[in-house]
Amino acid sequence: MSVNHTAYTARAHSNIALVKYWGKADTAQNTPAVGSISMTLDGLFTTTECRFLPDLPEDDITLNGSTPSEIQSERIRSFLDLIRNRAGITSRARIRSDNNFPTGAGLASSASGFAALTLSATRAAGLSLTATDLSALARRGSGSAARSIYGGFVELPCAVPGNHRSHRDDPAAIQLFPQEYWDLRMLILIISTEEKPVGSRQGMIRTAETSPYYRSWVESAEADLRDMRNALQTRDFQKLGDIAEFSCFKMHGLMLSARPALLYWQQATVTAIHELRHLRHQGIPVYVTIDAGPQVKALCLPEYLDQISRVARSIPGIQHVLETKVGPNATLL
Ligand code: DP6
Repeated sequence: MSVNHTAYTARAHSNIALVKYWGKADTAQNTPAVGSISMTLDGLFTTTECRFLPDLPEDDITLNGSTPSEIQSERIRSFLDLIRNRAGITSRARIRSDNNFPTGAGLASSASGFAALTLSATRAAGLSLTATDLSALARRGSGSAARSIYGGFVELPCAVPGNHRSHRDDPAAIQLFPQEYWDLRMLILIISTEEKPVGSRQGMIRTAETSPYYRSWVESAEADLRDMRNALQTRDFQKLGDIAEFSCFKMHGLMLSARPALLYWQQATVTAIHELRHLRHQGIPVYVTIDAGPQVKALCLPEYLDQISRVARSIPGIQHVLETKVGPNATLL
């Protein structure tokens, strides 16, 4: 393959971690200090078009119809440099990328964004990579993007000596189960779409440097991964939900123990947690997970979706509710 200046368009779906990634083994290589397991989402995706053009003086990037901030542009340019180096080309790229959901609000836009960019830009650069190589490369853009190369239920192993699930220096995600394996649903309760105050990258560095709990977080992750694989294997929803909540609250406890504390929750986040727990105590199987933002995600089985959605929409402070299923692999369009 060679660069033919043709535009390639790829679509990648967002994902939400059921066992959370927070912390890096190596910042330059962006290797995770803990493994993670996610569910790819059907309803939330990024579509990215890329073409390399010899006459462009610099990379020309448009995200959701606008020019990105200098920080975002720099992050994308250095990621494109990795691809240029690998393909042995120097041309600059024209990138057009659109999310069908709000950017930068704890909805993992960097996951679908870097996964779609990896797929379209490697193709446009004349490379033809395996899914494993695409995933390891996407990880350099954003750790969670490594998981968005695959649909279904996906694990990104950590980078520690003795971890046999992936090459320890350059981890790639693996698909544990495909999209059609289990019809789980996730409701996303949107509380605020404002940009988060501290991004994941800075937040992880601060946590590792200042939290007295960081070491226990890293040491206890393997047990959660094992239990989650097992819950998936046996399609045990209660167990899956229980581990997902445990990993989520453990991560937020860790974040709160950083100095200064990382507090991503809003008032409505806490209200939603209580309301959904109340539903569960009434016998409706529903579990929550929350990322580096205020949004609450509610995990459930399809038969309870309408009932949970009705309650979620009535919670004070919830702007709207997205309903999503398990999503597919990233693809070229
Ligand atoms: C809380 O993948 O955004 O969503 O690798 O620095 O880009 P970088 O971090 P990112 O972190 C995601 C953190 C999380 C948990 C998760 O998705 O596993």
